[in-house]
Amino acid sequence: MRVVVLETAKQVNEFAADVVCALIGLRQQQHQPTILGLATGGTPLGLYSELITRHQSGKISFSNVDTFNLDEYVGVAPSSPCSYHYYMLENLFRHVDIDLTRTHVPQTYDVDLSESASRFERQIEQAGGIDLQILGIGVDGHIGFNEIGSSLGSRTRVKTLTHQTRSDNARYFESLEHVPRTALTMGIATILESQSILLMAHGAGKAQTIRNTIEGPITASVPASALQLHPDVTIVLDEAAASSLSNKEYYLESERNRGLLSRSS
Ligand code: GLP
Repeated sequence: MRVVVLETAKQVNEFAADVVCALIGLRQQQHQPTILGLATGGTPLGLYSELITRHQSGKISFSNVDTFNLDEYVGVAPSSPCSYHYYMLENLFRHVDIDLTRTHVPQTYDVDLSESASRFERQIEQAGGIDLQILGIGVDGHIGFNEIGSSLGSRTRVKTLTHQTRSDNARYFESLEHVPRTALTMGIATILESQSILLMAHGAGKAQTIRNTIEGPITASVPASALQLHPDVTIVLDEAAASSLSNKEYYLESERNRGLLSRSS
């Protein structure tokens, strides 16, 4: 795993935006669409706003981009401000030149959920798989809504949310009671099939779970630890999120060497 420790959250957002823009640029040169896996929550907001800025200054186009979001609450209408459909529209899609018919957020409202989950998996497959999956991380180590105990071989399905996750996300709802109890989420195996993965984390509140993810054992009790199995994962952290890592000096040295190697090649 590549672990990148930067001083500030702003630098984390810019780093992530550089990765997304480089990929879109490369796929454009290859005359291929870019298939992006997207995340919600507070963490990627800075990335999305950076992408909007770069789009508005003509540096990046989303005209040949398809997107697949990790998850959606069950029972929340796409038009509700609490839905992830709405979040994506407000925080990214309506500000850029993306074709909305090429954006996919799991369908969970008034549908057969198991059919919806299979269709979502099929759509990813038909698109040729995800080139880059963006991830945040829950305080307990969940990715998407793969809560603790999620099978490392899981695919898109309905999961029951933990009390911790519902409390953490209550800030987006009227009260804790209004937070849905279930969500449809890509599985861990679905996420691991992406060509590359970029996990972002900011703040001291994520420090312990980041340590467990990178330096702990692979376990369903910390779903993000499954990323250790993937050959192309980058974890980009601000100082606070990296503050519990035992091998921080080593990661910093690896990044310095990466810079030296790329300059000498
Ligand atoms: C939710 C989302 C996750 C996200 C997590 C952390 O549970 N389903 O994809 O990573 O929240 O959110 P935040 O970035 O607000 O800490």
